[in-house]
Amino acid sequence: MSAVPTIDLNDGHTIPQLGFGVFQIDPEDTVGAVGRALEVGYRHVDTAQMYGNEKEVGEAVRASGLDRADVFVTSKLNNGVHRPDEARRAFDGTLSDLGFDYVDLFLIHWPLPTLYDGDFVSTWETLAELHRDGRARSIGVSNFQVDHLRRLTDATGVVPAVNQIERHPYLLNDAVHDYGRAHGIATEAWSPIAQGDVLEDPVITGIAQKLGRSAAQVVLRWHIQHGAIVFPKSTTPERIEENFALFDFELEGDDVEEIDGLDRGEAGRTGPNPDTFDHIPD
Ligand SMILES: NC(=O)c1ccc[n+]([C@@H]2O[C@H](COP(=O)([O-])OP(=O)(O)OC[C@H]3O[C@@H](n4cnc5c(N)ncnc54)[C@H](OP(=O)(O)O)[C@@H]3O)[C@@H](O)[C@H]2O)c1
Repeated sequence: MSAVPTIDLNDGHTIPQLGFGVFQIDPEDTVGAVGRALEVGYRHVDTAQMYGNEKEVGEAVRASGLDRADVFVTSKLNNGVHRPDEARRAFDGTLSDLGFDYVDLFLIHWPLPTLYDGDFVSTWETLAELHRDGRARSIGVSNFQVDHLRRLTDATGVVPAVNQIERHPYLLNDAVHDYGRAHGIATEAWSPIAQGDVLEDPVITGIAQKLGRSAAQVVLRWHIQHGAIVFPKSTTPERIEENFALFDFELEGDDVEEIDGLDRGEAGRTGPNPDTFDHIPD
């Protein structure tokens, strides 16, 4: 039995609130890392076409002996394939690489508002097709700002199930998170521990010491108590276990508020700004 709670999505599906991220895991390490995570109890894996390891994620799920239906798998559309025909072909490639006949969740990885004549709406309509034909059980977006989200809904009436955004104690990204809460869009927090950058903050180490927990556990628990979905990445077996042990303790209200107070706004952003990001990988 998994202790991980699920979050209800706006399309009737549910998603485990804690998963395993595979960004920057080399393909040759992916089967081992995902296999370890599945052994520990994770039942949700977050990959992307851009990460180059979808094939190995699929292999790890099959090697685990678990039923496909028991593991929630997300992938994301790459930046160079936003035009509808290319997006359809790229999605076929995702299913073929994973070796699955559906994904649980498929996202537009970046809005790219300065590319494709600013048209991410036709890309979204393409994802809506994949949702209707059942090969993407849920669909959503990543790195979408409030005005991008509004535009999608106004143009298509289809509300994303999730928005995966950079969020951690140094960048709360609350305007986007609050818009999502108000409109039934679940927030997924990427780089939940800011790739380690927040772990030596005295506020966090102080709370960790008080609770007898690690700094990473405190930060991940803070996300959970805010209702966000997280999928920390690690290739270190002990950390894979540590990051899963979040459901036998709680932060007090004061601790949560103290961590909220670490927000640095835009200065805390570690990744690209979604309004200007325009990178097309080779
Ligand atoms: N949609 C997007 O644009 C986007 C962007 C970035 C990330 N993501 C997703 O979010 C996932 C997580 O984000 P992330 O990989 O950027 O960063 P992260 O999960 O915040 O941090 C990963 C880093 O922290 C280290 N780490 C993990 N657990 C630790 C622990 N308990 N104690 C100390 N250090 C620890 C890892 O090292 P070791 O591996 O060496 O243990 C790794 O260097 C990604 O894997 C990906 O699925 C999405």
